[in-house]
Amino acid sequence: MDIILWHQILAPYEMAVDELILKFHHMKDEYARYGKYCPIEQVTGRVKSITSILEKMQKKNVSMDRMEDEIEDIAGVRIICQFVEDIERVAQIISRRSDLRVTEIKDYIRNQKESGYRSYHMITKYVVNTINGPKEINVEIQIRTMAMDFWATTEHSLQYKYQGKIPERVGTRLANAANAIISLDSEMSAVREEIMDAQLSSKMKYSLVEDIVSTIENLYTMTTTREVEKIQDEFYRVYQEDNMEELIRYHDQLDLIAQAYKAQSNRQGDGRKKNEE
Ligand code: GTP
Ligand code: MG
Repeated sequence: MDIILWHQILAPYEMAVDELILKFHHMKDEYARYGKYCPIEQVTGRVKSITSILEKMQKKNVSMDRMEDEIEDIAGVRIICQFVEDIERVAQIISRRSDLRVTEIKDYIRNQKESGYRSYHMITKYVVNTINGPKEINVEIQIRTMAMDFWATTEHSLQYKYQGKIPERVGTRLANAANAIISLDSEMSAVREEIMDAQLSSKMKYSLVEDIVSTIENLYTMTTTREVEKIQDEFYRVYQEDNMEELIRYHDQLDLIAQAYKAQSNRQGDGRKKNEE
C-alpha cells in the first residue's frame, strides 16, 4: 500500500473549515452593521480526527482511494440558531451562496432519527485553493437550534460512554428529553418576535451610544471644553430618560452640531492656510 500522508490529505479540509467559519462570522457582522436580526447565533467547525475517519471507513467498508468521496464529513461546520424558524433561513442563505454547492440534504427535523436526534444537514462542495491548485472537497454543514445542540451533545457523550449500547432506562430518559426539546423550541418560537425585537433594540441602543460617544470625543478637538461638557451633560440626561426615540433624536441632532463644528473648523483651517500663504 502507498504511504498515506494523512496530514497532507487533511490540510485542505482544515483550510475549508477555517475559511467557512470566518465567512459566517463576517455574515454575522454584516447583519449587525445593518441593524438586522441574524439567524445565526454561533458557528463552530472541526476536521474529523484520523481515528474517527478510520473507524467510519471500517464501518462503511470504504477503501482508501474512495475515502475523500465517501466520508462526507471530514470537514464539518455547525451553525447554531436561536429558533427553529432560523434554520430554514440559514439553509436558504447557504443554498444561494456561490462558493457552496449543495449536493445532499438530510432533514432530521422533519424526519427525526430514531434516537431522537434532530438537525438539518447539508452536504456541500467547496473549493479551496492550495499551492497545488484548486481542490473541491465535501463539507458537511449541520444546522440546529441551541436546544437541539444541547440534546445532541449530551446524547453523543452517552453514546460514547456506553459505546453505542445505551441502556434502556437511559434511552427512555433521552427520548423524554428529546420530546421536551421539541416543546421548548416551539415555546421559544411563540415568543420569537418579541425576543427578536428586544435583541434588535438593545443592539440599536448599543450602536447609538457608541456613535454618540465617538462624536463627543471628536468634538473635543474642535470646540471648547465648556461646550463639550454641556453636550455631554445633555447626553447623560437623554440617556437616563431611557427612551429610544429621544436617544435617536439626540443622536441625529448631535450629528448636525458636529457637522457645523467641522465646517467651521475647516473654514478656520482654510483661513489660516491663506494667512500663511
Ligand atoms: P455517521 O452517523 O457519522 O456514521 O454518518 P452518516 O453518513 O450515517 O450520516 P448521518 O446523517 O446519519 O450523521 C451525520 C452526523 O450527524 C454524525 O456524524 C453526527 O454528528 C450527527 N448525528 C447523526 N445521528 C446522530 C444521533 O443519533 N445522535 C447524535 N448525537 N448525533 C447524530
Ligand atoms: Mg449515521
